[in-house]
Amino acid sequence: MELIRPSIEYRASFLEAVREYRADGKPIRFDFDMAESDFPRFVKELNEHAEGLHMPEDYVPETIFWLVDGGEYIGQINIRHYLNGHLLTIGGHIGYDIRPSRRNRGYGTKQLQMVLPKAKELGIDRVLVTCDVSNVGSRKIIEHGGGFLENQVPNPDTGEDKLRFWINL
Ligand SMILES: CC(C)(COP(=O)(O)OP(=O)(O)OC[C@H]1O[C@@H](n2cnc3c(N)ncnc32)[C@H](O)[C@@H]1OP(=O)(O)O)[C@@H](O)C(=O)NCCC(=O)NCCS
Repeated sequence: MELIRPSIEYRASFLEAVREYRADGKPIRFDFDMAESDFPRFVKELNEHAEGLHMPEDYVPETIFWLVDGGEYIGQINIRHYLNGHLLTIGGHIGYDIRPSRRNRGYGTKQLQMVLPKAKELGIDRVLVTCDVSNVGSRKIIEHGGGFLENQVPNPDTGEDKLRFWINL
């Protein structure tokens, strides 16, 4: 199992995962259409998020990693390089997901633990990770990663409160 930067090598299993995300129907911030029509460009653009490119104007640069295991794409985890106002209250430094067919096997826990040294390399000493109050799996992942709860805040975008955890690196 390893964390890698997005790579065209994982095209087949990534596109299988896209089919799973589509069937799952939950919003994920991927351009599925571009992934299916022009995978090399899709991968290049994901990697260029680290320079703040191809993202909405109010987004901060982020480094994206993919968790791969046995030659297959498993999940994605992003480190936002710094916090703006919205990230400080709601979004946090790190966002992640595990493809639907591979959930509940410990990958989400492992993925967060593996990314923490990468956050340290990016100069982050204290990582903010947040989740919806109802997201029991994500809360456990954060707690397994050493997160301590600072508070619970309202999220006007969804109407569901966010839990804000800090991890000291
Ligand atoms: C949340 C998510 C990343 C969990 O990934 P995962 O690989 O299934 O997590 P793990 O297998 O490491 O599970 C961690 C713990 O949560 C529990 N868990 C996982 N999913 C759960 C669920 N839906 N309900 C309750 N508990 C759950 C597991 O049993 C495990 O418990 P344990 O540590 O006591 O054994 C995955 O469900 C996902 O991608 N969801 C959609 C995107 C998302 O919510 N991202 C996080 C945003 S903050």
